[in-house]
Amino acid sequence: MKTSLRKVTKIIQRYQAKKTKLLAILTDIQTKYNWLPPDAIELVAEKLCVPLIDVYGVASFYHAFSLNPRGKHIATVCSGTACHVRGAPIILDRIQTKLGIEPGCTTKDDQFTLETVNCLGACALAPIVLVDGHYYGQSTPQKVDAIFLQYRKKTKSVKKMKKKKKAGTKNQPSKNTAKKRSGKKVIKTKSTRKQEKRK
Ligand code: FES
Repeated sequence: MKTSLRKVTKIIQRYQAKKTKLLAILTDIQTKYNWLPPDAIELVAEKLCVPLIDVYGVASFYHAFSLNPRGKHIATVCSGTACHVRGAPIILDRIQTKLGIEPGCTTKDDQFTLETVNCLGACALAPIVLVDGHYYGQSTPQKVDAIFLQYRKKTKSVKKMKKKKKAGTKNQPSKNTAKKRSGKKVIKTKSTRKQEKRK
């Protein structure tokens, strides 16, 4: 997703650009983009009048923040002891093959980022895969296939909806045409008059 500095500015304004709200601002930007884009960090430093190096210091200190682009969905495989002995390596291998990426990487279509973690604190459910905050316990390669299929389907249907919406907007009549149809008076601009002359 492209960084919109207007949206980042809105986030900053939500906290009145207070230095004390730096963590909250970075958290909101992270939530919006799944990472902290450099231009957003620069804008935060500028608006909060905080040295850029300090903002980077905070951003790199907390594990919750990412300074690298991440996918729309974050898949985390627990590789802690309990998960490891119950088959986490097989699960990780299956996901790597499915997505075609190594842990720490993002798919080319920016849909998935694969990560590993040492323990998710739910060892009784081992082996665990976490996708976008949802815990999938007692995972098997088959379960993993089903999970990712579900996410792919979701992505496809969202894309379809967006396409439809776009096509709908294109087919919508212009304001003047709509007014003509409704019988309301049409305000003619210079360009519409020129167009009419050409006809
Ligand atoms: S080792 Fe995986 S949840 Fe604890």
